[in-house]
Amino acid sequence: MTQTPLIRLADVSKVYHLEAGDFTAMDHVSLDIMDNDFVAIMGPSGSGKSTMMNQLGILDVPTSGELLIDGRNVAKLTSLERTHMRRDTIGYIFQKFYLIPLLSAYENVEYPLILKYKKRDTSGKATALLEAVGIDREMSAHRPTQLSGGQQQRVAVARALVNDPKILLCDEPTGNLDRKTGTQIMDILCGLHNEGKTVIIVTHDPKIAEYAQRTIRLEDGRIAES
Ligand SMILES: Nc1ncnc2c1ncn2[C@@H]1O[C@H](COP(=O)(O)OP(=O)(O)OP(=O)(O)O)[C@@H](O)[C@H]1O
Ligand SMILES: [Mg+2]
Repeated sequence: MTQTPLIRLADVSKVYHLEAGDFTAMDHVSLDIMDNDFVAIMGPSGSGKSTMMNQLGILDVPTSGELLIDGRNVAKLTSLERTHMRRDTIGYIFQKFYLIPLLSAYENVEYPLILKYKKRDTSGKATALLEAVGIDREMSAHRPTQLSGGQQQRVAVARALVNDPKILLCDEPTGNLDRKTGTQIMDILCGLHNEGKTVIIVTHDPKIAEYAQRTIRLEDGRIAES
């Protein structure tokens, strides 16, 4: 039986139009990612890794080619459908955490729920997720600046999980962390993969890539033969 991929990139290119001329950051990339895959994306700086993650995360639109997520052609969705797909299907984890500085750790995790349900959360979900990633109640009251990098990334992971997305897109999630803390974050991501999430992670670190089931290498916007 052939399974339908959860994500399909079919001949996707991304061209940035710059004053100096066009720059092709993704060059005819085709790639299938199956449900519950764990994929590492590696490649030199400037090879198009973040550009590819931005397409996968519907944060940007391909110049040409097709992107299908969960069987749906992203280009054919309305803007509202795209917003819902970003909110409900994809969790984002970035190198720089991007927590909201004025909110506590708890409020950062609760925030996507407020956006979705238009009210404060009473389910205890945010607290449960924070506890699951090792942030206790006391620490949950702290603002991001009062937390270490590793703690901030744990909060960002809890935030990414709060709408129970199928896909976790992680762009250098350990890039700002020391090896030990990075390993702790990877252990959390591995646990989530074991629970059924599809995990896509960009990394420069071969040790981090070893956690994945397969590695895709990008060079000059193309998938390099491996
Ligand atoms: N918004 C943009 N406008 C113009 N060019 C861009 C834009 N974003 C990225 N680029 C260019 O596209 C190429 C790929 O960038 P990208 O950020 O995808 O690389 P990367 O593989 O993630 O690199 P790094 O490992 O340094 O994060 C680079 O040459 C970059 O300058
Ligand atoms: Mg990048």
